[in-house]
Amino acid sequence: VQQLLFKNPSDPPMVFHWFPFIGSTVIYGMDPPKFFKDNRAKYGDVFTFVLLGKKTTVAVGPAGNDFILNGKLKDVNAEEIYSVLTTPVFGRDVVYDCPNAKLMEQKKFMKIALTTEAFKSYVPIISHEVTSYFKRDPAFKGKSGIVDIPKKMAEITIFTASHALQGSLIRSKFDESLADLYHDLDMGFTSINFVLHWAPLPWNRKRDHAQRTVAKIYMDTIKERRALGEDDKELDILKHLMKSVYKNGTPVPDHEIAHMMIALLMAGQHSSSSTSSWIMLRLAQYPQVVEDLYQEQVKALGADLPPLQYEDFAKLPLNQAIVKETLRLNAPIHSIMRKVKQPMPVPGTKYVVPSSHVLLAAPGVSGSDPTYFPNPDKWDPYRWLPGSPNAPLMAQNNDEEEKIDYGYGIVSKGAASPYLPFGAGRHRCIGEHFANLQLQTIIAETVRMFKLSNVDGSNNIVGTDYASLFSRPLEPAKIRWERRD
Ligand code: HEM
Repeated sequence: VQQLLFKNPSDPPMVFHWFPFIGSTVIYGMDPPKFFKDNRAKYGDVFTFVLLGKKTTVAVGPAGNDFILNGKLKDVNAEEIYSVLTTPVFGRDVVYDCPNAKLMEQKKFMKIALTTEAFKSYVPIISHEVTSYFKRDPAFKGKSGIVDIPKKMAEITIFTASHALQGSLIRSKFDESLADLYHDLDMGFTSINFVLHWAPLPWNRKRDHAQRTVAKIYMDTIKERRALGEDDKELDILKHLMKSVYKNGTPVPDHEIAHMMIALLMAGQHSSSSTSSWIMLRLAQYPQVVEDLYQEQVKALGADLPPLQYEDFAKLPLNQAIVKETLRLNAPIHSIMRKVKQPMPVPGTKYVVPSSHVLLAAPGVSGSDPTYFPNPDKWDPYRWLPGSPNAPLMAQNNDEEEKIDYGYGIVSKGAASPYLPFGAGRHRCIGEHFANLQLQTIIAETVRMFKLSNVDGSNNIVGTDYASLFSRPLEPAKIRWERRD
């Protein structure tokens, strides 16, 4: 009755709930994509639900993506939502613990290090990390076996990314203590910490201890690298940050470099590790695709399969399509939130989102909408290749789109696309090209060594774990591997 009586006609429709603070928290948390789909069918593209006491307005579809992700600084704010979770994990003065203009400068520093020249040097590093992992890990001994794949992909992701992006000194420290500390830091990202981030609970104490210890590891590494001087030949992000200077002339302080490195480690690794696990599970679901990928390499690169190089990936369209298609259905970031700073009329509707609300974008909804993707629930990498009956019904080349510079580099202005696994606007991902390169190298090396299939020979797939900020496959998620002759 209260929900009906006190409704302002310009408020978006409210998802029905029984209990005031809890609202729809539990049902949303169990399966966010299903929650969005069900309520979109009932209420349309714009609706509000109560998430832990906060009125949260969802706007889906390309127009909703654009409305939220391209929101102006005066209208929407990310740091007021995320900093309670991220500042204890990353540390002070970076990302969401500073004004947005400073974040844009920090993103620019990090992005400039992600050049084609650097990428060319990363491919052999990533290839080496993947192949030597498969050689030394006991789970891959012998001719065939069964493996719980997310754990292995988490390790491969951390070894490949830490070596390529953060340099060999940091990579060597991952063999020692960093991996355990990373797990403790990760505990800070459980959704419950949106409410309990401050509480002196055991996992928060571990998180704080890990943050201090990891930051010190980075700061010590910075000193070691400075001492190397000209002998430091690596082209990684750490090196670039050590040379970066803010517009006001201040060099980036060591503690900020350390905290940005933690942010990169957490932001990148989570998404890439979840995606690489989904990729392996999808390949096990469809063993024929593994064969097609192998043949693609034989045809494009030669039967002796020479060491992979950066330029090779342009010749491997199916390899690329695997990443695209997996991110369409299993994007690790299902909800992107912003605090509303002043009433925001939703274009093309009668609704105005009040300033007390939080906005939530869910690009995954349009990514699995039959309007844009025929047979949307089918994982079909071939849909991204020419001539497929399931080809996406959207423009795939955005060269003509209007561009904008938010301060971290030039990006497409419009966010009105149905396919946005890397977000859009001022908070758009800077790691997209690196993640693509890393994932494509992992796929290419894996299919060179193994055939994959489901343990029971079926083409089933496990469910999704939504307990943390980043979604991932529910564990255990076992697959069968067989070594190629
Ligand atoms: C932002 C996805 C890998 C660094 C984002 C956002 C998304 C995303 C959706 C926008 C978040 C928002 O608007 O609130 C992904 C996916 C990845 C991936 C799907 C892999 C498959 C990486 C990697 C790095 C990285 C490898 C680092 C090298 C960042 C950073 C931001 C970001 C720094 C900016 C946050 C902001 O400006 O608020 N990513 N990401 N990501 N990502 Fe990624």
